[in-house]
Amino acid sequence: MNILVTGGAGFVGSHTIRKILERGDKVICIDDFNGFNNPLLKEDRIRDFPADNFKLYRANITDFKVLENIFEYNDIDLIIHLAARAGVRNSIADPRLYSEVNVAGTIHLLELAKKHDIKDFVFASSSSVYGGNKKVPFSEEDAVDYPISPYATTKRAGELSCHTYHHLFDMNIVCLRFFTVYGPWGRMDMAPYKFTDLIANDQPIEMYGDGTSERDYTYIDDIVSGVLAAADHVQQNKKVFEICNLGNSQTIPLKKFIGLISQYLDKKPKIIKKPMQPGDMKITYADISKAKKLLGYNPQTSIEEGLKNLVEWYQKEAFGKY
Ligand SMILES: NC(=O)c1ccc[n+]([C@@H]2O[C@H](COP(=O)([O-])OP(=O)(O)OC[C@H]3O[C@@H](n4cnc5c(N)ncnc54)[C@H](O)[C@@H]3O)[C@@H](O)[C@H]2O)c1
Repeated sequence: MNILVTGGAGFVGSHTIRKILERGDKVICIDDFNGFNNPLLKEDRIRDFPADNFKLYRANITDFKVLENIFEYNDIDLIIHLAARAGVRNSIADPRLYSEVNVAGTIHLLELAKKHDIKDFVFASSSSVYGGNKKVPFSEEDAVDYPISPYATTKRAGELSCHTYHHLFDMNIVCLRFFTVYGPWGRMDMAPYKFTDLIANDQPIEMYGDGTSERDYTYIDDIVSGVLAAADHVQQNKKVFEICNLGNSQTIPLKKFIGLISQYLDKKPKIIKKPMQPGDMKITYADISKAKKLLGYNPQTSIEEGLKNLVEWYQKEAFGKY
Protein backbone atom coordinates (compact mmCIF):
# COMPACT_ATOMS: atom_id res chain seq x y z
CA MET A 1 0.00 0.00 0.00
CA ASN A 2 1.19 3.55 -0.78
CA ILE A 3 0.45 6.06 1.95
CA LEU A 4 0.86 9.80 1.49
CA VAL A 5 1.95 11.45 4.74
CA THR A 6 1.98 15.24 4.72
CA GLY A 7 4.17 16.92 7.33
CA GLY A 8 6.21 13.71 7.41
CA ALA A 9 9.37 15.37 8.72
CA GLY A 10 7.39 16.71 11.65
CA PHE A 11 7.17 15.25 15.13
CA VAL A 12 4.04 13.13 14.71
CA GLY A 13 4.69 12.55 11.00
CA SER A 14 8.16 11.07 11.37
CA HIS A 15 7.09 8.68 14.14
CA THR A 16 4.05 7.66 12.11
CA ILE A 17 6.17 6.98 9.02
CA ARG A 18 8.61 4.83 11.01
CA LYS A 19 5.72 2.61 12.12
CA ILE A 20 4.19 2.46 8.63
CA LEU A 21 7.53 1.35 7.17
CA GLU A 22 7.84 -1.30 9.89
CA ARG A 23 4.41 -2.59 8.87
CA GLY A 24 5.73 -3.04 5.31
CA ASP A 25 3.85 -0.26 3.52
CA LYS A 26 5.38 2.44 1.34
CA VAL A 27 5.37 6.14 2.15
CA ILE A 28 5.27 9.23 0.00
CA CYS A 29 6.15 12.16 2.23
CA ILE A 30 5.52 15.86 1.64
CA ASP A 31 7.17 18.44 3.86
CA ASP A 32 8.41 21.97 3.22
CA PHE A 33 11.04 21.96 6.01
CA ASN A 34 10.07 25.51 6.98
CA GLY A 35 11.95 27.34 9.70
CA PHE A 36 9.27 27.02 12.40
CA ASN A 37 11.31 24.63 14.57
CA ASN A 38 14.90 23.99 13.51
CA PRO A 39 14.91 22.37 10.02
CA LEU A 40 17.97 20.33 11.08
CA LEU A 41 15.76 18.55 13.63
CA LYS A 42 13.35 17.72 10.79
CA GLU A 43 16.19 16.37 8.63
CA ASP A 44 17.46 14.22 11.50
CA ARG A 45 14.03 12.75 12.22
CA ILE A 46 13.87 11.18 8.78
CA ARG A 47 17.56 10.60 8.08
CA ASP A 48 17.57 6.80 8.33
CA PHE A 49 14.38 5.97 6.43
CA PRO A 50 15.13 3.44 3.68
CA ALA A 51 15.11 5.04 0.20
CA ASP A 52 13.33 2.10 -1.47
CA ASN A 53 10.15 2.48 0.60
CA PHE A 54 10.28 6.18 1.41
CA LYS A 55 9.92 8.90 -1.21
CA LEU A 56 10.38 12.49 -0.07
CA TYR A 57 8.99 15.62 -1.73
CA ARG A 58 10.27 18.90 -0.34
CA ALA A 59 7.11 20.74 -1.26
CA ASN A 60 4.63 23.23 0.11
CA ILE A 61 0.98 22.14 0.37
CA THR A 62 -0.12 25.68 -0.52
CA ASP A 63 1.34 25.14 -4.01
CA PHE A 64 -1.50 23.39 -5.82
CA LYS A 65 0.45 22.92 -9.07
CA VAL A 66 3.26 21.04 -7.33
CA LEU A 67 0.74 18.89 -5.46
CA GLU A 68 -1.01 18.08 -8.73
CA ASN A 69 2.26 16.72 -10.11
CA ILE A 70 2.89 14.62 -7.01
CA PHE A 71 -0.59 13.09 -7.27
CA GLU A 72 -0.09 12.54 -11.02
CA TYR A 73 3.15 10.60 -10.58
CA ASN A 74 2.19 8.50 -7.56
CA ASP A 75 -0.42 5.86 -7.00
CA ILE A 76 -1.77 6.82 -3.58
CA ASP A 77 -4.09 4.54 -1.56
CA LEU A 78 -4.48 6.56 1.63
CA ILE A 79 -3.68 10.07 2.87
CA ILE A 80 -2.58 10.92 6.39
CA HIS A 81 -2.68 14.71 6.46
CA LEU A 82 -0.53 16.07 9.28
CA ALA A 83 1.15 19.09 7.66
CA ALA A 84 0.12 22.32 9.34
CA ARG A 85 1.34 25.46 10.93
CA ALA A 86 1.05 24.47 14.57
CA GLY A 87 1.17 26.49 17.76
CA VAL A 88 -1.44 28.74 19.28
CA ARG A 89 0.69 31.79 20.07
CA ASN A 90 2.30 32.04 16.63
CA SER A 91 -1.11 31.83 15.02
CA ILE A 92 -2.12 35.04 16.78
CA ALA A 93 0.96 36.73 15.28
CA ASP A 94 0.35 35.46 11.74
CA PRO A 95 -3.24 34.28 11.20
CA ARG A 96 -3.06 34.67 7.42
CA LEU A 97 -0.24 32.15 7.13
CA TYR A 98 -2.11 29.69 9.37
CA SER A 99 -5.21 30.05 7.26
CA GLU A 100 -3.30 29.59 4.00
CA VAL A 101 -1.55 26.39 5.12
CA ASN A 102 -4.12 24.81 7.43
CA VAL A 103 -7.33 25.72 5.63
CA ALA A 104 -6.41 26.19 1.95
CA GLY A 105 -3.70 23.49 2.15
CA THR A 106 -6.22 20.99 3.52
CA ILE A 107 -8.70 21.83 0.74
CA HIS A 108 -5.91 21.24 -1.81
CA LEU A 109 -5.36 17.73 -0.48
CA LEU A 110 -9.08 16.92 -0.30
CA GLU A 111 -9.59 18.23 -3.81
CA LEU A 112 -6.77 16.11 -5.22
CA ALA A 113 -8.00 13.09 -3.29
CA LYS A 114 -11.38 13.58 -4.97
CA LYS A 115 -9.82 14.03 -8.42
CA HIS A 116 -7.74 10.84 -8.08
CA ASP A 117 -10.49 8.84 -6.43
CA ILE A 118 -8.54 8.35 -3.20
CA LYS A 119 -11.30 7.65 -0.70
CA ASP A 120 -9.40 7.20 2.55
CA PHE A 121 -8.20 10.19 4.56
CA VAL A 122 -7.01 10.83 8.11
CA PHE A 123 -6.80 14.43 9.30
CA ALA A 124 -4.86 15.80 12.29
CA SER A 125 -7.09 18.13 14.25
CA SER A 126 -6.47 19.43 17.73
CA SER A 127 -7.83 19.66 21.27
CA SER A 128 -7.59 23.43 20.77
CA VAL A 129 -10.98 23.33 19.01
CA TYR A 130 -12.56 22.97 22.47
CA GLY A 131 -11.52 26.55 23.29
CA GLY A 132 -12.71 27.70 26.68
CA ASN A 133 -14.89 24.61 27.20
CA LYS A 134 -15.79 24.54 30.89
CA LYS A 135 -17.03 20.96 31.00
CA VAL A 136 -14.40 18.29 31.45
CA PRO A 137 -13.43 15.85 30.13
CA PHE A 138 -13.84 17.21 26.59
CA SER A 139 -16.12 15.03 24.51
CA GLU A 140 -16.58 14.96 20.74
CA GLU A 141 -20.22 15.81 21.41
CA ASP A 142 -19.38 19.13 23.09
CA ALA A 143 -20.04 22.30 21.10
CA VAL A 144 -16.90 23.66 19.43
CA ASP A 145 -18.33 26.88 18.06
CA TYR A 146 -16.22 29.31 20.08
CA PRO A 147 -12.52 28.87 19.24
CA ILE A 148 -10.14 31.16 21.11
CA SER A 149 -7.18 31.25 18.71
CA PRO A 150 -6.70 31.46 14.93
CA TYR A 151 -4.97 28.06 15.09
CA ALA A 152 -8.08 26.48 16.65
CA THR A 153 -10.26 28.12 14.01
CA THR A 154 -8.16 26.65 11.20
CA LYS A 155 -8.30 23.17 12.73
CA ARG A 156 -12.07 23.33 13.09
CA ALA A 157 -12.28 24.58 9.50
CA GLY A 158 -10.21 21.55 8.47
CA GLU A 159 -12.69 19.21 10.19
CA LEU A 160 -15.62 20.94 8.50
CA SER A 161 -13.93 20.70 5.09
CA CYS A 162 -13.35 16.98 5.69
CA HIS A 163 -17.03 16.54 6.45
CA THR A 164 -18.00 18.36 3.26
CA TYR A 165 -15.83 16.07 1.12
CA HIS A 166 -17.13 13.01 2.93
CA HIS A 167 -20.71 14.14 2.31
CA LEU A 168 -20.30 15.14 -1.31
CA PHE A 169 -17.85 12.51 -2.55
CA ASP A 170 -18.26 9.53 -0.21
CA MET A 171 -14.80 9.89 1.24
CA ASN A 172 -13.95 7.88 4.36
CA ILE A 173 -12.46 10.26 6.89
CA VAL A 174 -11.38 10.25 10.52
CA CYS A 175 -10.40 13.57 12.11
CA LEU A 176 -8.24 13.09 15.19
CA ARG A 177 -8.13 15.70 17.91
CA PHE A 178 -4.66 15.30 19.40
CA PHE A 179 -4.13 16.38 22.99
CA THR A 180 -0.64 17.86 23.59
CA VAL A 181 1.76 15.29 22.18
CA TYR A 182 5.22 14.82 23.69
CA GLY A 183 8.19 12.48 23.52
CA PRO A 184 11.54 11.98 21.79
CA TRP A 185 12.06 14.07 18.63
CA GLY A 186 9.34 16.44 19.86
CA ARG A 187 8.75 20.02 18.81
CA MET A 188 11.12 22.69 20.05
CA ASP A 189 8.32 25.26 20.41
CA MET A 190 6.37 23.08 22.85
CA ALA A 191 6.73 23.05 26.63
CA PRO A 192 8.13 19.51 27.06
CA TYR A 193 11.14 20.14 24.81
CA LYS A 194 11.50 23.81 25.69
CA PHE A 195 11.52 23.25 29.45
CA THR A 196 13.89 20.29 29.15
CA ASP A 197 16.29 22.34 27.04
CA LEU A 198 16.21 25.40 29.29
CA ILE A 199 16.51 23.51 32.57
CA ALA A 200 19.34 21.34 31.17
CA ASN A 201 21.20 24.54 30.23
CA ASP A 202 20.57 26.19 33.62
CA GLN A 203 18.40 28.83 31.94
CA PRO A 204 15.26 30.31 33.55
CA ILE A 205 11.87 29.08 32.34
CA GLU A 206 8.77 31.21 31.98
CA MET A 207 5.74 29.70 33.68
CA TYR A 208 2.47 31.17 32.45
CA GLY A 209 -0.16 31.45 35.18
CA ASP A 210 0.31 30.13 38.70
CA GLY A 211 1.28 26.59 37.68
CA THR A 212 -2.17 25.11 38.26
CA SER A 213 -3.19 25.02 34.58
CA GLU A 214 -3.59 21.41 33.52
CA ARG A 215 -2.71 19.54 30.34
CA ASP A 216 -3.63 16.12 29.11
CA TYR A 217 -0.22 15.11 27.72
CA THR A 218 -0.21 12.22 25.28
CA TYR A 219 2.89 10.18 24.57
CA ILE A 220 3.94 10.01 20.95
CA ASP A 221 3.76 6.18 20.63
CA ASP A 222 0.17 6.26 21.86
CA ILE A 223 -0.73 8.96 19.32
CA VAL A 224 0.88 6.94 16.51
CA SER A 225 -1.12 3.86 17.51
CA GLY A 226 -4.28 6.00 17.26
CA VAL A 227 -3.31 7.42 13.87
CA LEU A 228 -2.68 3.96 12.44
CA ALA A 229 -5.91 2.62 13.95
CA ALA A 230 -7.75 5.50 12.25
CA ALA A 231 -5.99 4.66 8.97
CA ASP A 232 -7.16 1.04 9.31
CA HIS A 233 -10.68 2.24 10.13
CA VAL A 234 -11.07 4.34 6.98
CA GLN A 235 -9.65 1.51 4.89
CA GLN A 236 -11.95 -1.12 6.34
CA ASN A 237 -15.19 0.87 6.33
CA LYS A 238 -17.18 2.60 3.63
CA LYS A 239 -18.72 6.09 3.79
CA VAL A 240 -17.50 6.84 7.29
CA PHE A 241 -16.86 10.20 8.89
CA GLU A 242 -15.73 10.35 12.49
CA ILE A 243 -14.11 12.81 14.85
CA CYS A 244 -12.14 11.26 17.73
CA ASN A 245 -10.16 12.60 20.65
CA LEU A 246 -6.70 11.11 21.08
CA GLY A 247 -5.48 11.96 24.56
CA ASN A 248 -4.16 10.19 27.61
CA SER A 249 -7.27 11.11 29.61
CA GLN A 250 -5.19 12.13 32.61
CA THR A 251 -4.13 15.66 33.39
CA ILE A 252 -1.05 17.01 35.09
CA PRO A 253 -0.67 20.51 36.57
CA LEU A 254 2.08 22.63 35.01
CA LYS A 255 4.04 22.89 38.26
CA LYS A 256 4.20 19.13 38.71
CA PHE A 257 5.16 18.73 35.04
CA ILE A 258 8.13 21.09 35.49
CA GLY A 259 9.04 19.26 38.70
CA LEU A 260 9.23 15.87 36.94
CA ILE A 261 11.44 17.18 34.12
CA SER A 262 13.76 18.79 36.68
CA GLN A 263 13.89 15.57 38.67
CA TYR A 264 14.85 13.47 35.63
CA LEU A 265 17.49 16.03 34.62
CA ASP A 266 18.68 16.21 38.23
CA LYS A 267 18.55 20.02 38.11
CA LYS A 268 16.73 22.75 40.01
CA PRO A 269 14.48 24.84 37.73
CA LYS A 270 14.67 28.65 37.75
CA ILE A 271 11.06 29.71 37.32
CA ILE A 272 9.91 33.16 36.19
CA LYS A 273 6.17 33.61 36.72
CA LYS A 274 4.24 35.28 33.86
CA PRO A 275 0.53 35.91 33.35
CA MET A 276 -1.52 33.42 31.33
CA GLN A 277 -1.16 34.15 27.59
CA PRO A 278 -4.07 35.08 25.31
CA GLY A 279 -5.35 32.00 23.50
CA ASP A 280 -4.07 29.60 26.19
CA MET A 281 -6.50 27.09 27.66
CA LYS A 282 -6.72 26.61 31.44
CA ILE A 283 -7.23 22.88 31.06
CA THR A 284 -7.26 20.22 28.38
CA TYR A 285 -8.66 16.83 29.30
CA ALA A 286 -9.81 14.21 26.80
CA ASP A 287 -12.73 11.85 27.03
CA ILE A 288 -11.29 9.00 24.95
CA SER A 289 -14.19 6.56 25.19
CA LYS A 290 -15.10 7.05 21.53
CA ALA A 291 -11.58 6.32 20.25
CA LYS A 292 -11.40 3.31 22.56
CA LYS A 293 -14.62 1.85 21.23
CA LEU A 294 -14.26 2.76 17.55
CA LEU A 295 -10.50 2.38 17.05
CA GLY A 296 -9.40 0.15 19.92
CA TYR A 297 -7.24 3.06 21.07
CA ASN A 298 -5.71 2.41 24.47
CA PRO A 299 -2.88 4.72 25.61
CA GLN A 300 -0.21 2.88 27.58
CA THR A 301 2.36 5.45 28.63
CA SER A 302 2.31 7.24 31.98
CA ILE A 303 3.57 10.82 32.13
CA GLU A 304 6.46 9.66 34.33
CA GLU A 305 7.63 7.02 31.84
CA GLY A 306 7.08 9.33 28.85
CA LEU A 307 9.00 12.25 30.35
CA LYS A 308 11.87 9.93 31.34
CA ASN A 309 12.08 8.80 27.69
CA LEU A 310 12.02 12.41 26.50
CA VAL A 311 14.79 13.48 28.89
CA GLU A 312 16.94 10.44 27.97
CA TRP A 313 16.53 11.17 24.27
CA TYR A 314 17.31 14.85 24.81
CA GLN A 315 20.53 14.07 26.68
CA LYS A 316 21.67 11.61 24.01
CA GLU A 317 20.59 13.31 20.78
CA ALA A 318 19.60 16.93 21.25
CA PHE A 319 21.66 18.57 24.01
CA GLY A 320 23.71 21.39 22.45
CA LYS A 321 22.63 20.47 18.92
CA TYR A 322 19.35 22.12 17.96
N1 LIG B 1 2.05 18.02 18.63
C1 LIG B 1 0.89 18.30 19.22
O1 LIG B 1 0.81 18.38 20.45
C2 LIG B 1 -0.35 18.51 18.40
C3 LIG B 1 -1.56 18.73 19.08
C4 LIG B 1 -2.71 18.92 18.33
C5 LIG B 1 -2.67 18.86 16.97
N2 LIG B 1 -1.49 18.65 16.32
C6 LIG B 1 -1.51 18.62 14.85
O2 LIG B 1 -0.85 17.43 14.44
C7 LIG B 1 -0.13 17.65 13.24
C8 LIG B 1 1.30 17.28 13.42
O3 LIG B 1 1.85 18.06 14.48
P1 LIG B 1 3.37 18.00 14.88
O4 LIG B 1 3.46 18.24 16.34
O5 LIG B 1 4.00 16.82 14.28
O6 LIG B 1 3.88 19.33 14.16
P2 LIG B 1 5.23 19.60 13.37
O7 LIG B 1 5.34 21.06 13.19
O8 LIG B 1 6.36 18.88 14.02
O9 LIG B 1 4.93 18.89 11.99
C9 LIG B 1 4.27 19.50 10.93
C10 LIG B 1 5.13 19.34 9.71
O10 LIG B 1 4.43 19.94 8.63
C11 LIG B 1 5.35 20.64 7.84
N3 LIG B 1 4.64 21.73 7.16
C12 LIG B 1 4.14 22.86 7.73
N4 LIG B 1 3.61 23.65 6.79
C13 LIG B 1 3.78 23.00 5.61
C14 LIG B 1 3.44 23.32 4.27
N5 LIG B 1 2.86 24.49 3.95
N6 LIG B 1 3.74 22.43 3.31
C15 LIG B 1 4.35 21.25 3.62
N7 LIG B 1 4.71 20.91 4.86
C16 LIG B 1 4.42 21.77 5.85
C17 LIG B 1 6.40 21.17 8.80
O11 LIG B 1 7.65 21.41 8.16
C18 LIG B 1 6.48 20.04 9.82
O12 LIG B 1 7.54 19.16 9.55
C19 LIG B 1 -0.35 19.13 12.90
O13 LIG B 1 -1.42 19.20 11.99
C20 LIG B 1 -0.73 19.75 14.21
O14 LIG B 1 -1.52 20.90 14.02
C21 LIG B 1 -0.33 18.47 17.02
